[in-house]
Amino acid sequence: MAVVYHAPMFSYRHAFHAGNHADVLKHLTLVACLQYLAQKDVGLLLADTHAGAGIYRLDQELARTSGESGRGIVRVAAAAVQARAQGQTLPAAVQAYLELVQTYNLGSDSLRHYPGSPWICQTLLRPQDQLKLFEVHPTDARLLERHVADLGRGKQIELRRSDGFAGLRALLPPPTRRALVLIDPSYELKTDYAAVLDCLEDALERFPTGCYAVWYPVIARPESHALARKLKALSTRVQRPWAQALLDVGQAPTSGRSAEVARGQARTPLHASAMHLINPPFALAEQWRAALPWLSATLKEGPGAQWQVESGG
Ligand SMILES: C[S@@+](CC[C@H](N)C(=O)[O-])C[C@H]1O[C@@H](n2cnc3c(N)ncnc32)[C@H](O)[C@@H]1O
Repeated sequence: MAVVYHAPMFSYRHAFHAGNHADVLKHLTLVACLQYLAQKDVGLLLADTHAGAGIYRLDQELARTSGESGRGIVRVAAAAVQARAQGQTLPAAVQAYLELVQTYNLGSDSLRHYPGSPWICQTLLRPQDQLKLFEVHPTDARLLERHVADLGRGKQIELRRSDGFAGLRALLPPPTRRALVLIDPSYELKTDYAAVLDCLEDALERFPTGCYAVWYPVIARPESHALARKLKALSTRVQRPWAQALLDVGQAPTSGRSAEVARGQARTPLHASAMHLINPPFALAEQWRAALPWLSATLKEGPGAQWQVESGG
């Protein structure tokens, strides 16, 4: 009997957050991984278990309401212009990520389009590669479907409107024995933290040599702290190399009205996130160590700003 995934009523829309500091860390990492893996000719399976809408307009309502890209990619792009004007060389991973984002904004002074993870993957997709996308939000799945259809790449890119955690199973191991898997849930459900670990454990059993990239928010929640620890423990248990990077932009002075602040109702935006890679590209930790000090200085919002890179295995 076919198992039907019943998506809970999600309210998360990535369009609010597209191009924020967390996307900068995640997408810069994704570009670095894809470029490294493309050095070998053998075809790659790229799987994005939580895809979102694919590509976003930064000048339209959702993104403008949040203003998050203004404190993320827009600031990074402006700092890059300034650095180049002063004759400075950008860290290689920042340069590669920015070049990719710029390809969607040619001829425009401002950044109007922002490529999400499916778009970064499809930009760097070679004829011998396959891209598998999962998205369950009805609106974003519809948008992604339309965007993918517009690309006209046929079966090379496949979208499934089903649970990415479960869907990954059927894809592993890939016939070419090469894969990059991005696991990027919204963590709207507390159960996502455990689901990430279960999904990874299963994937590593099926295909231990794949490159797995997990994004997670670093927030004051026991599940978030535990996830960082459990991801390292899992990597060590399965005896695979791993690398972890954290970018904390610090806490901006609160913009909430004083009454809201007093009642603890002022919105506190996410200020830190991390990536955990299993079987990372050889030079990734080094690329992070070169890029994160620059990003941290560029994206700093207030006290507590910091970055960390760890690796093992
Ligand atoms: C953080 S967003 C993805 C952003 C995207 N990976 C990017 O970097 O551009 C998470 C997405 O996962 C979707 N989602 C939530 N639960 C899911 C599930 N179980 N399977 C597939 N997609 C899911 C949400 O609707 C949301 O669009």
